[in-house]
Amino acid sequence: MKVLLTEEQIKRRIDELAQEISEKYKGQELLAIVLLKGAFIFAADLLRRVDGVEVYCDFMKASSYGSSTESSGDVRITLYPSTSIEGKKVLIVDDILDTGLTLKRVKEFLISSGAESCEVCVLLDKPERRKVEIEADYVGFKIPNHFVVGYGMDYAEQHRCLPYVAVLS
Ligand code: IMP
Ligand code: MG
Repeated sequence: MKVLLTEEQIKRRIDELAQEISEKYKGQELLAIVLLKGAFIFAADLLRRVDGVEVYCDFMKASSYGSSTESSGDVRITLYPSTSIEGKKVLIVDDILDTGLTLKRVKEFLISSGAESCEVCVLLDKPERRKVEIEADYVGFKIPNHFVVGYGMDYAEQHRCLPYVAVLS
């Protein structure tokens, strides 16, 4: 495994993302929808640094991946939010925007559930891999087409709790 993003690089970039989000939603309520499992570490670090915003938090799970590095293209929502989305300003927080299939499906669900607005924040973006049209409003790092692990991201449930992002060889 080769380190792609160090703990320090990630921390510094998250400070910047948190500041952008804080400025945008200053004095307002924001419902963060964290996508499990991959985004749990990113979301914990990001949302703790958002300042001056009343942040609420809920979780969803949607998956187009089995225990392999290839997307099946079939996205199913397997965990729905436990709170109402109606009229909320929503920020989806995910680990990585890859083909875009997952985020497109989740965003459509949240909008059809009555979200007043719906933005997307991802730690990583692999633009080369996109299959559907969707962009994130906040991107930590654009990376080339490598399969990465760590900082919440797994390969067959392994390596999620590394404090850095590494390329799996
Ligand atoms: P998409 O639907 O293809 O955009 O896939 C999004 C999801 O696939 C992400 O939220 C990750 O959980 C997973 N994923 C995509 N690329 C990687 C990777 O390089 N490492 C680990 N998980 C990945
Ligand atoms: Mg994920």
